[in-house]
Amino acid sequence: MKQLQDSRRIHFIFPVALASLLLLGSARFILDYLKNNEYHFRWQSYFSAENKVRPKIPILVSNDEIIEDGCNVFDGQWIWDNVTYPLYREDSCPFLVKQSTCQRNGRPDSLYQNWRWQPNGCNLPRFNALKLLEILRDKRLMFVGDSIQRGMFESMVCLVQSALPDGRKKSMERIPPRKVFTIQEFNASIEYYWAPFLIESISDHATNHTVRKRLVKLDEIAKHSKQWEGVDFLVFESYVWWMYKPSINATYGSSSDVQEFNVTTAYRLAMETWANWIESSINPNKQKVFFVTMSPTHLWSWEWSPERDGNCFNESYPIEGSYWGTGSNQEIMSIVKKITKSLKVNVQLLNITQMSEYRKDGHSSIYGERQGKLLTKEQRLDPKTYSDCIHWCLPGVPDAWNEILYAILLQDYR
Ligand SMILES: *[C@@H]1O[C@H](CO)[C@@H](O)[C@H](O)[C@H]1NC(C)=O
Ligand SMILES: *[C@@H]1O[C@H](CO)[C@@H](O)[C@H](O)[C@H]1NC(C)=O
Ligand SMILES: *[C@@H]1O[C@H](CO)[C@@H](O)[C@H](O)[C@H]1NC(C)=O
Ligand SMILES: *[C@@H]1O[C@H](CO)[C@@H](O)[C@H](O)[C@H]1NC(C)=O
Ligand SMILES: *[C@@H]1O[C@H](CO)[C@@H](O)[C@H](O)[C@H]1NC(C)=O
Ligand SMILES: *[C@@H]1O[C@H](CO)[C@@H](O)[C@H](O)[C@H]1NC(C)=O
Ligand SMILES: *[C@@H]1O[C@H](CO)[C@@H](O)[C@H](O)[C@H]1NC(C)=O
Repeated sequence: MKQLQDSRRIHFIFPVALASLLLLGSARFILDYLKNNEYHFRWQSYFSAENKVRPKIPILVSNDEIIEDGCNVFDGQWIWDNVTYPLYREDSCPFLVKQSTCQRNGRPDSLYQNWRWQPNGCNLPRFNALKLLEILRDKRLMFVGDSIQRGMFESMVCLVQSALPDGRKKSMERIPPRKVFTIQEFNASIEYYWAPFLIESISDHATNHTVRKRLVKLDEIAKHSKQWEGVDFLVFESYVWWMYKPSINATYGSSSDVQEFNVTTAYRLAMETWANWIESSINPNKQKVFFVTMSPTHLWSWEWSPERDGNCFNESYPIEGSYWGTGSNQEIMSIVKKITKSLKVNVQLLNITQMSEYRKDGHSSIYGERQGKLLTKEQRLDPKTYSDCIHWCLPGVPDAWNEILYAILLQDYR
C-alpha cells in the first residue's frame, strides 16, 4: 500500500519521463528497433508446399469461448500455469528478432513464460490458430507502431505459425517499413508497419533513424496512412518515443516552422490528426480498428521494492497486489480515452497497461539487444545502465495481449 502511495505521489510526468529517457538516451539502446542484421533477406517460400487455398470451413464458436457481457478482460490477475503455457516455444518460432529471444540470449530463468492472464469476471477462450486464420481468410491484420508493437506482431506470428503443420506454405517478407507474414492456404496476412509516432516524423525510416534527434509533423500522416487503407484489422500503438523529453520539436500548420511543443500537447495534436484519418477513411462495416494503450516500463525497482535501487534486471516474478508505475503517464492515457471515445468510428481499446504493469519479470533486461547487437560481456555486468526494461521477452507478456485480441475477433466473427 505504501508503495502504491509513493508511486501515485510522483505522478507528475516530466521528471519521470526525463529520468527514464535520459537514461535510455544515454544508454542509447532503446528505440533502434528494426535495425536488425537480417533485414535484407527474405523468408520467401519458407516451406515449399503447393500454393493451394484451403477450403473454407465455417468455424464453430461455442458459448464458453465468448466473453461474457460486461466483463472487463483487462481487469484480472496472472495465474501460474506451467502446464499449458507458453503457447509456443521460443526456439520453434524462426521469426523472432534478437530483442525477444531471451533464452537464446542467455537468460537463466524461464518462469516468465508460464503465466496465464485470468480476467476477474470471466474466462478467455483458449487461443486457436486455425480459428484465427479462418477469421483472417482473405484479410489483412496490421500492427502499426514502434518496436513494442513489433513485439506484439511477432508474438501473433509465432502463435499462428506454431500451430500450422510443417510443410504448409507461409512466408515472411520485409518491405520496409512493413513486414508481411503470409499464410497462403488462407490468403491471409499478418503485417507490421513501422511508424513510431503514427504521424510523420524524421524517425520513419525503418532501419536508419536517429534516436536522440526528433522532429514530428503533427498534422501530417498521409505518407503512412495511404499504406493502411483498406486493411481489415488495424492495431495501432504509440507512446514511448514521445517520452524522451518534456518537449518535442514539431511542425504544425506550416511545414517549415519548427517549434518546441509540450509533449502532452503534441501527443494530443498527433492523435487528432490520426483520428481525422480514421473518421474519413475507415469503413466500419468492413474494417475494425484497435488501439493499444501504453506498454509499461520497469526502470526503477524502488517503485515496487523501496529498498532496491535497480531496475527490471533479475526480476523473476510478477508484482502482486495493486501497482501502477510512474512511467505510465495518466495524461497520455486520458488523451487516448477522450479521442477514441469522441470518434464516430468504433475504435476498440486494448487497455493492456494495468495487466502489464504487474510484469516486472517479463522484460528482456540484459538478454536483449542494443542497436542490433547482443550486449557484450562487459555491458551485461552493468545491468543498471544496460538493461532493457521496455521490450518484452517472447514467449511472454505480448502473447496475452494477443489472446485478448483473438477473443475479441472471435466474438465479432460470431
Ligand atoms: C510446474 O510448477 C509446479 C509448481 O511450482 C512444480 O512443482 C512443477 O515441478 C512444475 N513443472 C514443470 C514441468 O516445470
Ligand atoms: C486474397 O485476399 C485479398 C485481401 O487481403 C483479396 O483482395 C484477394 O481477392 C484474395 N484473393 C483471393 C484469391 O481470394
Ligand atoms: C542514414 O541516414 C543518414 C541521414 O539521412 C545518411 O547520411 C546515411 O548515409 C544513412 N545510412 C545508411 C546506412 O543508409
Ligand atoms: C529542438 O531543436 C533545436 C535545434 O535543433 C535544439 O537545439 C533543441 O534542443 C530541440 N529541442 C528538443 C526538445 O529536442
Ligand atoms: C504540458 O501540458 C500539460 C497539459 O496541459 C501540463 O499538465 C504540463 O504541466 C505541461 N508541461 C509543461 C512543461 O509545460
Ligand atoms: C538476483 O536475485 C537473487 C535473489 O532473488 C540474488 O540471490 C542474486 O544474487 C541476484 N543476482 C544478481 C546478479 O544480482
Ligand atoms: C485503462 O485502464 C486503467 C485501469 O486499469 C484506467 O485507469 C484507464 O483509464 C483505462 N484507459 C482507457 C483509455 O480507458
